[in-house]
Amino acid sequence: MQLIKLSATDSTNAYLKDLMFNKNLGDFTVVMAHSQLKGRGQMGTNWLSEPGKNLTFSVLVKPQDIRVVDQFVLNICVSLAIYETLSQLQVPDLKIKWPNDIMSGHSKICGILIENILSGQHIQASIIGIGLNVNQLTFNNLPNVSSLKLLLGRTFNLEELLLSIVENLKGLLGKSGEGQQKRLFELYETKLFRKDKPSTFTDQDNEMFMGFIKGVSSGGKLKILMEDNILKEFNLKEV
Ligand code: BTN
Repeated sequence: MQLIKLSATDSTNAYLKDLMFNKNLGDFTVVMAHSQLKGRGQMGTNWLSEPGKNLTFSVLVKPQDIRVVDQFVLNICVSLAIYETLSQLQVPDLKIKWPNDIMSGHSKICGILIENILSGQHIQASIIGIGLNVNQLTFNNLPNVSSLKLLLGRTFNLEELLLSIVENLKGLLGKSGEGQQKRLFELYETKLFRKDKPSTFTDQDNEMFMGFIKGVSSGGKLKILMEDNILKEFNLKEV
């Protein structure tokens, strides 16, 4: 692993992607930033983080043989890697909210932004951006957000957490070949937020509906058992 530490950058994902196109970077090149000026979140949102308080970093992964159709396995490996690190710290009521938010109870503590570079039918490279709320104590009154310090009452070393997550990720990616993916999906599903609990969703037309989360499809869609007992699959834009 090569670790590049920056004091400030727009976004570690953007920085790593630019660098990757200009230099021949090795697998598990990591860029961490003390502060991000334009941190990116999922679906075009911003990711805000107090400078120096939290982990904001990106990892370059060059998988050998993950097919584009199986790319959700990357989300699974990243979510499980963070889950493993946080469960060792005994973060209470830890869950993975599909597709890849890490929750403690009803509060989000970590967000993940994966940007894949494709080459034909395969993933050529993946920029995995992770924002983990660590030592920040206030979140501008944002609801349902927390940090490790708020949850566990102590201060954490950012680099130690980063190393633990990257080590776990290496281990999980090493077990993500085609024959091993089923087990990773099963493990991921056992940790899903609100699995088998009655939940309310909002669809693309802003209509609310009720259903039970049952798991994820091989393509990474969320499987919801509807009130009429029919199992339907949704992608992120649909729910
Ligand atoms: C989300 O939950 O919306 C995803 C948030 C991802 C944030 C991280 S912070 C490090 C990396 N660089 C970015 O610009 N975004 C990701």
